[in-house]
Amino acid sequence: MMMMSPFYLSIIFFFFISLILRSILTVHSHDQREFHRKISLRPTLPEGNTLHVRPGSSFKIAVFADLHFGEDAWTEWGPQQDVNSIKVMCTVLDLQHPDLVVYLGDVITANNIAIHNASLYWDQAISPTRDRGIPWASVFGNHDDMPFEWSIDWFSSTGIPPLHCPTSGSSPSESEGGKDCSFKGTTRLELMMNELKMNNLSYSKLGPKALWPSISNYVLKLSSTDDPESVIAYMYFLDSGGGSYPEVISNAQAKWFNRTSQAINPNSSVPEIIFWHIPSQAYKTVAPRFDAHRNCIGSMFAEEVASQEAEMGMMKLLEGRSSVKAVFVGHNHGLDWCCPYKKLWLCYARHTGYGGYGNWSRGARILEITTQRFSLKSRIHMEDGSVHSEVLLSSTASEE
Ligand SMILES: *[C@@H]1O[C@H](CO)[C@@H](O)[C@H](O)[C@H]1NC(C)=O
Ligand SMILES: *[C@@H]1O[C@H](CO)[C@@H](O)[C@H](O)[C@H]1NC(C)=O
Ligand SMILES: *[C@@H]1O[C@H](CO)[C@@H](O)[C@H](O)[C@H]1NC(C)=O
Ligand SMILES: *[C@@H]1O[C@H](CO)[C@@H](O)[C@H](O)[C@H]1NC(C)=O
Ligand SMILES: *[C@@H]1O[C@H](CO)[C@@H](O)[C@H](O)[C@H]1NC(C)=O
Repeated sequence: MMMMSPFYLSIIFFFFISLILRSILTVHSHDQREFHRKISLRPTLPEGNTLHVRPGSSFKIAVFADLHFGEDAWTEWGPQQDVNSIKVMCTVLDLQHPDLVVYLGDVITANNIAIHNASLYWDQAISPTRDRGIPWASVFGNHDDMPFEWSIDWFSSTGIPPLHCPTSGSSPSESEGGKDCSFKGTTRLELMMNELKMNNLSYSKLGPKALWPSISNYVLKLSSTDDPESVIAYMYFLDSGGGSYPEVISNAQAKWFNRTSQAINPNSSVPEIIFWHIPSQAYKTVAPRFDAHRNCIGSMFAEEVASQEAEMGMMKLLEGRSSVKAVFVGHNHGLDWCCPYKKLWLCYARHTGYGGYGNWSRGARILEITTQRFSLKSRIHMEDGSVHSEVLLSSTASEE
């Protein structure tokens, strides 16, 4: 009998090994196909878009609006405002212990930031929340990527303050041409990528590419810890533009909202809550005039609504969904009301930052979602600890 040479033995050995491997891999990919088929039958959101709340307890959100970090860094006043804003946030976080913080745009005043990387200021604004281990989600306002504006004052007797024009790595002579001192700004995409890169507590998203240059468009799901299938609420975050492009929620964004909400909440059985920065034009129609506050609840009625430039279909869709309970915006520092509009509520946050115009006292809007039986309550928590303007937003007050 012929002995098999080691060469043939090893060929037979590898033949069997490859058979085994192939059968494992086929089974595995078959499982994956099954898995994906199941997912596509019932559209759902990935784990990175899901927040959890213990059954029976409530879910609390603190909304920080218009922080405007990074103003006038060359003065003593500027950095002091950021310190003050951090104090406001710490006070609210330590007294309210929210489960989520929403950064509602104008986190920084980019048109005032004379350094290359505005993420440095963005990061400072996020830090009180991150330091406490609280998750957050952010949307852009019109100031976050606004092009740098040279102050005209600097060209008179005050002179141009000492600026940091870092050399971009290579030889110092390259930067002498001044290109490092052109402050082209930090784009929405860069700001968001920097936020996500460093922060595993951030629930912000880059948004679908088809909607760019509009970036912060995404939806988060709030579900119960004991049953992830039972969704308590959907929270939509939209980029209302401004800065590097017009102040508007585009038709494409409206269509994205329509598609998404139809897919994940087809029969409107789950309540929906909406966040963006610049009020839509509908805010003008409900704004209290001449002290006639009607059914509005708030403490500041100090300005006119500064709305988006156009309405391109978003409000029509929101009005048409019985599940949409409220929209929250910032932008107007002198307004903090909630007014009923059709079957939902249009709400302002409360100016949280010491940056930005206006010297009204600072605070934050708090939202509280109860889970046993859904309700959405809100109030404003001031820097001095006082609380006011409590309102129940899950009832449709406009049906009077
Ligand atoms: C900008 O700053 C952020 C935060 O400090 C940092 O993570 C990022 O790497 C910086 N980007 C550049 C290009 O320097
Ligand atoms: C998140 O990042 C921090 C440090 O930045 C780290 O200590 C922590 O373990 C991270 N958590 C997770 C869940 O990755
Ligand atoms: C929203 O989606 C529905 C169903 O998918 C469709 O009938 C409707 O025309 C859409 N509305 C808009 C404004 O896109
Ligand atoms: C609504 O849809 C969900 C699943 O998408 C289903 O469980 C529920 O029974 C539906 N409710 C109504 C009133 O049709
Ligand atoms: C802003 O308000 C505070 C407290 O009400 C006051 O002390 C301060 O002087 C005001 N600042 C300006 C610039 O009006």
